[in-house]
Amino acid sequence: MSNQVNFIASPAQRLTGDICVPGDKSISHRSIMLGSLADGTTRVRGFLDGKDCLATLNAFRTMGVKIEGPDNGRVVIHGVGTDGLKDPARALDMGNSGTGMRLMAGLMAGQSFDSVMVGDDSLMSRPMRRVAKPLVSMGANIATTETGTAPIAITGSTPLRGIDYKLPIASAQIKSCILLAGLYAKGKTRVIEPAPVRDHTEKMLRSFGYEVNNPQPGVFSLTGGKRLSATEINVPADISSAAFFMVGASIAENSDITLRHVGVNPTRTGIINVLRLMGADISIENERTAGNEPVADVRVRSAPLKGVHIPEKLVSLAIDEFPAIFIAASCAEGETVLAGARELRVKESDRIQAMVNGLKVLGVNARPAQDGAVIQGGEGFSSGMIESCGDHRIAMSFVMASLRASGDITINDCANVDTSFPDFTGLANRSGLSIDVDGKPGHQPVMGDHPC
Ligand code: S3P
Repeated sequence: MSNQVNFIASPAQRLTGDICVPGDKSISHRSIMLGSLADGTTRVRGFLDGKDCLATLNAFRTMGVKIEGPDNGRVVIHGVGTDGLKDPARALDMGNSGTGMRLMAGLMAGQSFDSVMVGDDSLMSRPMRRVAKPLVSMGANIATTETGTAPIAITGSTPLRGIDYKLPIASAQIKSCILLAGLYAKGKTRVIEPAPVRDHTEKMLRSFGYEVNNPQPGVFSLTGGKRLSATEINVPADISSAAFFMVGASIAENSDITLRHVGVNPTRTGIINVLRLMGADISIENERTAGNEPVADVRVRSAPLKGVHIPEKLVSLAIDEFPAIFIAASCAEGETVLAGARELRVKESDRIQAMVNGLKVLGVNARPAQDGAVIQGGEGFSSGMIESCGDHRIAMSFVMASLRASGDITINDCANVDTSFPDFTGLANRSGLSIDVDGKPGHQPVMGDHPC
């Protein structure tokens, strides 16, 4: 969705403070899905009140689930049980969210009613065969467009049948889609991942009392037809949102910022590993758990960075953080090489192209490759005008470049920052950045009473 919100980030000196970024997007989506399908009332704290998760919340309201909130990060979900959803009678609009659409495809496939899912222009151009194909082999009836994109039309089929599926791509969305369909399948559903990807679905299913087996690393299975029992969920702050501040504090001299209550699930901490390889000064303090998820306070101080060859085994563990990592690489002495990250081309935008284009505008020597990029860093950034391509993470990454820029950076088409990080500009400005929002700000929710 293109609209008129632009950011103008003026050169800034440093990031400091003690902050709490909003709740984890992946966990917030899943809390609504599983809470809706559980027996009983689920209470969520720290819910991400961003457009993506609200689209999922609204989809379940449309299917008859009573959900209170979000109110300061609190949501109360009156679960209807695995068999209690109602025919939505209209298309479910998943907005900008690939996670929403792909996970819901698994759930919708097992219902007794038909459904259709749509989204914004970005989501309607993203690949959906990756979920349609395995679901069809479970007995689902699913149609996409000829090019494999949404709208996705699902004819309800019950029950599905369990499958054994080796994921062709390291994707938590595909894994989760199949496991969620597996709740509605006869027998056992088993997925095998080619590389570790986020395991929030498995963890949360267990929190709802649903058994998920993990007989060996990378293999997950469950048996369909059981019930979920309501629980309490404390959503950690999103490491993917914290990542912008980790990069900002690393590249700007005299920075010292502490990010509270950040989710540090090892399937998500690739950003910390990559930044540390580059020489970043990051300490993980106060490690604890929130519900079923590990959390910690993350302190980041500025440090001279050096270019690195990013180990391919870290790619799936930092998959959403590469736009921010490219900013760090541009400030790192020497060459940074990323390979094995072709998936970046089918995120909310083609993130390889969008980042390389923007970096070039700012005077950085960056070259795209089919599955990554090569960046010669060390010089910082000039001023310029960047196209975010409507991609929240591209927009927020280029804001951080203003900590090492010689002039203003204008970033176009930033409304979708609200999909994952409501009040990003407010929090960033309070931490030392200098961002003007030009145009009508979109959704401006009240920041929640986060558990941090
Ligand atoms: C997500 C999985 C990842 C990630 C996305 C959130 C999830 O997508 O990029 O932002 O919540 O499962 P893929 O599974 O397509 O890699």
